[in-house]
Parts: sequence; C-alpha cells; structure tokens
Amino acid sequence: MARRKLVAGNWKMHGLAADLAEVVAVSNAARTAGCDVALCLPATLIERAVRAAPGFPIGGQDVHQADKGAHTGCVSAAMLLDAGASLTIVGHSERREAQGETDANVKAKAEAALLAGLDVILCIGESDAVREAGAAVPTVLAQLDASLPASVADPSRFSVAYEPIWAIGTGKVPSVGDIGEMHSALRGRLKAAYGEAGDAIRILYGGSVKASNAAEIFAVEDVDGALVGGASLNATDFLPIIQAAR
Ligand code: PGA
Repeated sequence: MARRKLVAGNWKMHGLAADLAEVVAVSNAARTAGCDVALCLPATLIERAVRAAPGFPIGGQDVHQADKGAHTGCVSAAMLLDAGASLTIVGHSERREAQGETDANVKAKAEAALLAGLDVILCIGESDAVREAGAAVPTVLAQLDASLPASVADPSRFSVAYEPIWAIGTGKVPSVGDIGEMHSALRGRLKAAYGEAGDAIRILYGGSVKASNAAEIFAVEDVDGALVGGASLNATDFLPIIQAAR
C-alpha cells in the first residue's frame, strides 16, 4: 500500500532560542514537501517553536505515562499538548540505555500519548553485538511485540522507527538489503498485531541518515520515512533529506 512518507527530526539535547530560525526554515520548506515533516525538540523549545512556525508539527522526545504526579524532571502528554506539541518519540535507544527504560515502560508511554491525542513514533533497534551474532531480526521483533500499544485507533498517528543502535550518530548504516529484511519483518508483525491497520502504519528508518544516503534508503520497500538526528539540526542538512522523500 502507498503510505505518505514521514521525515522527522530528533534534535536530542540540542537547541537554543537562536536555533528557532532553523525550525522556521524547515517549516517553510515543509509546506511544499510532498511528505509529512516534523521536528522533535527539547521540551524547553517546544512552545517557542510552535509560536515561530504555526501549524508545523513540533514534537517531544519522550513522555511520561502518568498524567501528572511526583515525577521530578518528567513531562506528561498533557504538558506536551499544552505547549503546542502534536507528537512525541517514545523508546529511543538513548533513553532505553541511559535511563533504563524497559519495553513495558515504552508501551505504557505510547498508550498514554496516543490516548491523550499525541501522534507517536516508537523506536526499536538492535545493538552491534546482537547484529554480529546474527540475531537482529528476532531481537527487534521481540522488542516490538513487547513495546506495541494494545490498540492503535488511527494508524496514520502511529509510526515505528527502526534504529539500529550501532548506526546512531556513527555514520554507519546497514545495507539496503538488511534494512529491507528488517522492515519487511516488522510489517508482518504489525499486520499480525493490528490486521489491516498494520499495513497503514509507517515504518521509519533511523541511524546516520544524510542527504547522501536518504534516496537509497527511501527506495527500500516498507521504508516509509526517516527519523533523523544530527542531520536535522539545521535546514541546510535536513532539507535535502526531505526532498529525497518526495
Ligand atoms: P542520527 O540519530 O541521525 O544522528 O544517527 C538518529 C536518532 O537517534 O534518532
């Protein structure tokens, strides 16, 4: 089935007021992009970015599963929505690794965010050691099974991002054959979980996507866009990736 591509940037812990000009430049180009575009920013910048680029999708990079409460340093879905965000990433490997987030946490976060009305990008991906051991596909499928929300009412609001940990920020990228093998396995699992809706869910690739490799990656079957870290920090690097998705 034809799915409209989504190119989402993940600024991680980057971005100050001076960088809002990059958000504006990306949002202007997104109007005629022919694909969906979004930027997931540090929580501190969300509201200012929404004001600077009205109507352009701005997201968070994580969300707490509870509405509110004694969770120092955390942000709820209601807070992201209140700041003007329309989406959030959950389960990024940097949070799974550094903050000890489990599949069960990620599932709870995805469910809470969808229920509150945020679109969700749920990340999964294998380590270098798992890939070397030849266990990438079963490992990532098990991670998907354990992280997926129980139901997805609107498949256009939920995406899965396959991000091999060893490819993030390293300049290393799996072969197009390996990306295709993983995305096809993920598609099968999404259909098994959600039936027809599983065919409409977008599966993004993430990990060292750049202007120079984006077109080749987007041409792979079942690659419905990208989650882009380093190359999303400025419009000069990000816009050619958006153009490659059209
Ligand atoms: P990268 O990061 O594009 O800098 O490799 C991707 C990500 O972590 O989402």
